Amino acid sequence: MAKALLLALSLSGLTFRSAGVVRKYHYVDTALSWEDARTHCKAKFANLATVTKQEDADGLLQALPSTGSYAWIGLHDDLTKLSWSMTNVSFNNHRNYSNWEMEKIDNISSRDRCILMKTSGTWQDRSCEEEQLLVCYDEESPNTYVFVNKSMNWRDAKTFCRAHHTDLAFVRNSSENGRIAALLPADAWIGLFRVSWKKWSDQERVSFTDWGEGQPDSKANASCGAADAATATWWDDDCSLKRPFVCYTIQKTQKARVKLKFLSEADLMDPAVHQQLLEQHWAPAHVLAAEKKGAGIKSAALSHFLLLVHTF
Ligand SMILES: *[C@@H]1O[C@H](CO)[C@@H](O)[C@H](O)[C@H]1NC(C)=O
Ligand SMILES: *[C@@H]1O[C@H](CO)[C@@H](O)[C@H](O)[C@H]1NC(C)=O
Ligand SMILES: *[C@@H]1O[C@H](CO)[C@@H](O)[C@H](O)[C@H]1NC(C)=O
Ligand SMILES: *[C@@H]1O[C@H](CO)[C@@H](O)[C@H](O)[C@H]1NC(C)=O
Ligand SMILES: *[C@@H]1O[C@H](CO)[C@@H](O)[C@H](O)[C@H]1NC(C)=O
Ligand SMILES: *[C@@H]1O[C@H](CO)[C@@H](O)[C@H](O)[C@H]1NC(C)=O
Repeated sequence: MAKALLLALSLSGLTFRSAGVVRKYHYVDTALSWEDARTHCKAKFANLATVTKQEDADGLLQALPSTGSYAWIGLHDDLTKLSWSMTNVSFNNHRNYSNWEMEKIDNISSRDRCILMKTSGTWQDRSCEEEQLLVCYDEESPNTYVFVNKSMNWRDAKTFCRAHHTDLAFVRNSSENGRIAALLPADAWIGLFRVSWKKWSDQERVSFTDWGEGQPDSKANASCGAADAATATWWDDDCSLKRPFVCYTIQKTQKARVKLKFLSEADLMDPAVHQQLLEQHWAPAHVLAAEKKGAGIKSAALSHFLLLVHTF
């Protein structure tokens, strides 16, 4: 596992041009939950369907039987994933300090949400468009936190704090939370937020969507995406429902020439390494045997990609 991680770290530093990638979609007429469908796609294809452009959306539609019911695609909304606007400070809802007004956060709606601190110090998730006062974090200020008596939406609040201070306030423990709350004459934005429907199941960023009217409406645990052939649009739905699904593979041959520091002796055929590569889009379908070629150079045909591994 340690070896696999090393390899993944070295890979992640590389640039890789994926422009022109064409996905081929495969409809699987077996009713499974979203998670099981994903497992199936990863075993037999690349992953559940990822759609990044209109051409993909058209291809996906063609793969669906016109009479079929909704079919799972790779859209998933991780309801527990929140972040601080200060990007070098991590937030994990299960491990880090939080002070939610209601103990749930798993029930946060499937929309972009931004977090408001009440004067009592408790946290509430709100629409990011609401105009609220704000509290900034300021590295230079002796008081660390600065209450700003101006109403604005969360995005503008972030911009304001970054321009005049360091960033929107972040909180690490109850004493910090108490210090901020003590400053507040009224409720105020802090730096915590959630972007809904952020990533496809293969970790591709969601940049293109084709939601049906009023979707996603986030009713009843609806945090997985399904495609509907009849309306040619996408709907959010309860992930535990069993539905047929659509997987993808990469169709077009692409060449990517990369160099990477081979930090470990990790074997490209090691299943753990293989998994890491898959997660980073390196090998949609199958990693072909890595050929050892001369001193320290390995060349592996990764599905349709060519990967050159240099040893330094
Ligand atoms: C985080 O980044 C900010 C700038 O955005 C910087 O001022 C601050 O020192 C960094 N904090 C840590 C802990 O790295
Ligand atoms: C989740 O939110 C809905 C709508 O706001 C509410 O009706 C429901 O009781 C909440 N469920 C839990 C477990 O908090
Ligand atoms: C904030 O501004 C309003 C007017 O915009 C003013 O009435 C109020 O006293 C101010 N509060 C603080 C704490 O400065
Ligand atoms: C959240 O927890 C992680 C690890 O448990 C820690 O590295 C990180 O600094 C914590 N974030 C905050 C804001 O305290
Ligand atoms: C809260 O976190 C800050 C920053 O890590 C630390 O300096 C402080 O001692 C902590 N306070 C408590 C009570 O844990
Ligand atoms: C949402 O999922 C949770 C856990 O899976 C379950 O307890 C809850 O009843 C579900 N809520 C609805 C409205 O389906």
